[in-house]
Amino acid sequence: MTVRLDLEDPIRYSHPAPPCAVVIFGANGDLTKRKLMPALYRLAYERRLPTGFAVLGVSRTAMTDDGFREKMRGSVKEFLEDSPFDESLWRGFGQVLFYTSGDVGDPALYEKLKARLEEVGQSRQTGGNALFYLSTQPSHYAPAVRGLRAAGLHRASLPGAWRRIVVEKPFGRDRQSAQELNHELQSVFPETAIYRIDHYLGKETVQNILAFRFGNGIFEPVWNRRYINHVQITAAEAIGVEGRGGYYQEAGALRDMVQNHLLQVMATVAMEPPAVFEPDAVRDERAKLLRSIKTLRPSEVAGNAAAGQYGPAVIGGTPVHGFREEPGVNPEAQTDTYAALTVEVENWRWAGVPFYIRSGKRLPKRVTDIAVQFNSAPLSMFEGASGREWPNLLVLRIQPEEGISLRFSSKRPGAGMRLRPVTMDFNYGASFGARSPGAYETLLLDALEGDATLYTREDMVDASWAVVQPVLDVWAGQKHNFPNYAAGSWGPKESDEMLARRNHAWRLP
Ligand code: BG6
Repeated sequence: MTVRLDLEDPIRYSHPAPPCAVVIFGANGDLTKRKLMPALYRLAYERRLPTGFAVLGVSRTAMTDDGFREKMRGSVKEFLEDSPFDESLWRGFGQVLFYTSGDVGDPALYEKLKARLEEVGQSRQTGGNALFYLSTQPSHYAPAVRGLRAAGLHRASLPGAWRRIVVEKPFGRDRQSAQELNHELQSVFPETAIYRIDHYLGKETVQNILAFRFGNGIFEPVWNRRYINHVQITAAEAIGVEGRGGYYQEAGALRDMVQNHLLQVMATVAMEPPAVFEPDAVRDERAKLLRSIKTLRPSEVAGNAAAGQYGPAVIGGTPVHGFREEPGVNPEAQTDTYAALTVEVENWRWAGVPFYIRSGKRLPKRVTDIAVQFNSAPLSMFEGASGREWPNLLVLRIQPEEGISLRFSSKRPGAGMRLRPVTMDFNYGASFGARSPGAYETLLLDALEGDATLYTREDMVDASWAVVQPVLDVWAGQKHNFPNYAAGSWGPKESDEMLARRNHAWRLP
């Protein structure tokens, strides 16, 4: 394979992953085309893939290997972000793609797959290692796992070779179905071979939270209830449901973003330092934090959670549908396209510090960030002069602009002690001048290397479902007054009221 090496950081590119075949279930689906294939191509571009490597796509649609290659070529060209498409690299990369069709519930598929894996493994020298990637609709997860076991594909036959399985979200639709899915997976694969993906953990800026907290001496001493007043975690999207109305109508924002991505981000912000930087040590701390979150009683849900659904609006002169008018959506849908939660952590570090989490579709802009607001100075000796106090605010910007900023007060030039807030800014791109790898690149490579640090474990998934379950239950039994926010606005007033109850307000990200 002809590859070009990006030599910005030679250490990063010095250990290619072990030989292996990646078997993608759902190879004809959206995720494969938008995320998985561009990420694999990009890893090939950076010479991170082993020489003994193959991708075996599996899906119901009949297609030849060449047909699959052509289709994937189009997808990579279309969805490759911030890097060029290289025809000469594709000529080599395309040749390692193979395809098998069949019905996920049909035992014959797995016999066919077994033969194909054997043949591809021989020709591509994959060393008997295989990573199965479940990227189908969730109802196909259990049949796929059972099919793999029945055909004996869950165990490698060569000594020292491995089998692993990556499971996409949604991981269950409530706590019980997640437990059932865990049980199903663990009856076939050991927990150490199960990789539950949460792509937010793969984002460079989310990983940087750990570097920021535990690689510096000055932040951790103030990272607690004595100095921090509250934390706001925002994941706003400007887009609507983008053709995913059918899926989204059943999911809603609380399941789609909060239960997984944002609680994992919160755990990263609030966890204790791990004893060592090793997968289970890091995951133990995240799990422990998630387990320390206070479980809401049904009577507490109204005061600590807010649901919203966008209605129609005209944005920049263009009329925009409300959620209920989106294709595939029931005109009376009770789905939350916005969810906000007040989370309390019951441990010595955080008791009494609210963590406010919000996520929504059709908000004014796409922005994900974490704002840590510190307590004000104990004496406001300049208050009279400035008229207003600006407590220190640390913002960890996850996307689209990646960086960290710290707000503090400064004296305005001139006579008197008049203060004004100013910010100290770190910008990822400007400081490193290099492209950050996409979350799927990082996570796929980690799975190939057997590093589960950024994957969620059974106890983490269960603990995060336990946080949202009381809210889901109360919301399910209630008729919401939807739509309650206009597309293009910052969400429903119920969400502002939730913070106002504690004398706080959402900041404008
Ligand atoms: C997915 C959700 O997990 O994350 C989508 O299903 C959402 O609804 C997406 O749009 C957001 O991811 P990102 O990386 O664009 O912030």
